[in-house]
Amino acid sequence: MAHSDTLSRFRVRPAEPQDCPEILRLIKELAAYENMPDAVQLTEEEPKIVGFAMYYYTYDPWIGKLLYLEDFYVMDDYRGWGIGTELLKKLSQIALDTNCGCMHFLVVVWNKPSIEYYMRRGASDLSTEEGWHLFRFDKENLLRMAMGE
Ligand code: ACO
Repeated sequence: MAHSDTLSRFRVRPAEPQDCPEILRLIKELAAYENMPDAVQLTEEEPKIVGFAMYYYTYDPWIGKLLYLEDFYVMDDYRGWGIGTELLKKLSQIALDTNCGCMHFLVVVWNKPSIEYYMRRGASDLSTEEGWHLFRFDKENLLRMAMGE
């Protein structure tokens, strides 16, 4: 089946509150794909939605407002049909419409298909190109620092 035929069966649209159970199911699938199947601890219901993108806005003092892509996922059976490209198109439109200077996202180092997917679309790898590393203070650290220890 041609891309346009299959794509016409799907619609990229903003998420609505009633989508939460199905989006949660996809969040779990993404966690499993990233070898962390137990990281998501909520429950979900029957599937209908086949992909999702979760984003929010943040600010960088050098760049200004930017769109942060937290999660991006299409179910295995529906990959390669252009749904991801449609989602990126929508995200790009949203980013531009809301005055974002760029879109940031994280990809685990072993996820070569996705790294290549993003790079084919012009993404820069900030770790190798600019030397950035992602750090985290976990709750224990926060508690310790909050106590002034
Ligand atoms: N499976 C995957 N890719 C295929 C397949 C297939 N069966 N067949 C062909 N492809 C090729 C397509 O030709 C296309 O190539 P292109 O980049 O040259 O255009 C590409 O792979 C897929 O393009 P789309 O159809 O537009 O994207 P898709 O709907 O498959 O979604 C996505 C892309 C979201 C990365 C999807 O592959 C996925 O969910 N992967 C697993 C989870 C993942 O890695 N998510 C990203 C984590 S990073 C983050 O969340 C910020």
